[in-house]
Amino acid sequence: MLLKDKVAVVTGVGSDSSIGRATARVFAAQGARVALIDIDMEAVQASGTALGEPHRAYLSDVSDAAQCRRTISHIVADLGPVDVLVNSAGIVHGTRITEIGADEYNEVLDTNLRGTFLMSQAVVPHMQAQGSGNIVCVSSIAGQSGGGVFGSSHYAAAKSGIFGLAKALARELAPHGIRVNAVAPGPIDNDFTKGRMTSDIKRELAAKIPLGRLGTPQDVANACLFLASDLSSYITGIVLDINGGLLIH
Ligand SMILES: NC(=O)c1ccc[n+]([C@@H]2O[C@H](COP(=O)([O-])OP(=O)(O)OC[C@H]3O[C@@H](n4cnc5c(N)ncnc54)[C@H](O)[C@@H]3O)[C@@H](O)[C@H]2O)c1
Repeated sequence: MLLKDKVAVVTGVGSDSSIGRATARVFAAQGARVALIDIDMEAVQASGTALGEPHRAYLSDVSDAAQCRRTISHIVADLGPVDVLVNSAGIVHGTRITEIGADEYNEVLDTNLRGTFLMSQAVVPHMQAQGSGNIVCVSSIAGQSGGGVFGSSHYAAAKSGIFGLAKALARELAPHGIRVNAVAPGPIDNDFTKGRMTSDIKRELAAKIPLGRLGTPQDVANACLFLASDLSSYITGIVLDINGGLLIH
């Protein structure tokens, strides 16, 4: 059991096919007590029911500092000190640069980048007090390559920002025994793009991927497990690509 008796917080656990939910399942199977966080009330209830005891689900907006702090306090009171945080909450809009308004820009930056920053900020004091901790930030290949399936420059900018944030936190927090890493998934076969990824687009994409298929939420969850566990004990500040070879540096 790679996460036996650890308390793990996972954000963005919405649908059954989300990367967050898959990660929560994998962590629970490895012995962790998991706190699941989402902004969507129905999703929160469904995810709590799906995992059952001793795991808990919490309603929280990761882009709101007060909510992040409050939720982490509740989690510490309910489950104990937080050992692992996976920042997976995210949102994308496929909009061309000339069509992106201020509200949409803010929503995308606030959810992906500010949310990762604020949730990390909320858990770090608890991790520092313990002298250990582990943060995994779910970024995207879009932050490395600029995306390209749909126009989403704000999304690519936010995901690119997550790499800098994770690396800076890795440096700053290493003396406190806290490791921080990012993962960069390529296209994952779920409904993150809310139906825009048609089966034709998926087929065309799969044909360009050396391993011949899109990724699965489980592929990303397994990488998160590696980074969150002692299997990666000497790794901090990295970006782990999960893209079937779509982007080979
Ligand atoms: N699916 C892909 O193809 C893909 C590829 C690369 C990276 N990613 C990244 O993976 C992460 C997870 O995406 P997914 O595929 O599981 O999509 P998803 O839509 O299934 O899950 C994202 C979840 O985040 C939640 N969320 C949105 N805003 C929130 C907020 N302010 N506070 C709390 N929760 C919020 C949503 O309700 C949803 O449940 C995202 O950060 C995404 O950018 C996804």
